[in-house]
Amino acid sequence: MKITVVGAGNVGATVAQMLANRELANEIWLVDIAEGIAKGKALDMYESMPIYASSSRIYGTSDYAPTAGSDIVVITAGLARRPGMTRDDLLIKNATIVSECAENAFKYSPDAIFIVVSNPLDVMTYVTLKKTDLPKNKVIGMAGILDTARYRSFIAMELNVSVKDISALVLGGHGDTMVPLPRYTTVAGIPVTELISEERMNSIVERAAKGGIEIVNYLQTGSAYYAPGTAAVEMVEAIVKDQNRILPCTVLLDGEYGFNDVCIGVPVILGKDGVKEVVELKLNEEEMTLFKNSAEHVKTTIIQAMELIGAFTRYHDNAEHDID
Ligand code: 2OP
Repeated sequence: MKITVVGAGNVGATVAQMLANRELANEIWLVDIAEGIAKGKALDMYESMPIYASSSRIYGTSDYAPTAGSDIVVITAGLARRPGMTRDDLLIKNATIVSECAENAFKYSPDAIFIVVSNPLDVMTYVTLKKTDLPKNKVIGMAGILDTARYRSFIAMELNVSVKDISALVLGGHGDTMVPLPRYTTVAGIPVTELISEERMNSIVERAAKGGIEIVNYLQTGSAYYAPGTAAVEMVEAIVKDQNRILPCTVLLDGEYGFNDVCIGVPVILGKDGVKEVVELKLNEEEMTLFKNSAEHVKTTIIQAMELIGAFTRYHDNAEHDID
């Protein structure tokens, strides 16, 4: 197994280190335009491998050639938010950065599965799909696992129980329009709606939706990386071990949930070939309305991104891009 992590910032470094600690690949390549940062972090990580008793080799580079033949590429490159910014405020810079990184990585690893972590996440997943021309099962965005993990953590805090016993799902875009689903949330099998009042659940849902900016406001100089990195590694593990996990991930919808040509978070079955199947839940009217709002928001931002990177085809060759 050979894995490339593009971007040696906090998220990329966290992903590379965790992949190595868990020995999920024998070769891990950390790529960054700042070559010294990539090489320095990679060497530092490799020097911790004797302590972790892991045989993973970690290399740093600014060149994509040595990443050739990677099985998985994780794209974390791009700017992170500062206080007062939404994820969409990153669009102009990150659309160009992610577009270039995806193109370069794909050139050397045309058979890889791409996991996208850069923000605005759903849009960057679409940009990667567009720039690589990979099939939709092989370009997957990481957001739902992170959003769900935050939501699960807040429920565990509320009930003072272990996070291990909270099972939940968050759908939709990675932003304020995300759709946590209390109806599909259980605590050791008990519906959460029997344990937490509607009013308290509303504030937990609100905190989960704003979970990213809560961390940004504490850090001031960047955004979260431990939980986002861990979430990306959970996706890699599902692929490497062909686990058939059901995980909320951002994928291109092709009729599922009644939507087309939009990348958005839905539960999928994840295994060695990437997405094996999109799991379609029966949403009630209220959940469907929230999901539709989220998809509409993402779709508008996708159109802006496509214009920015000069990739019009999907939209301009295809008149039917309405949400419904
Ligand atoms: C977050 O939600 C960085 O988008 C990421 O923290």
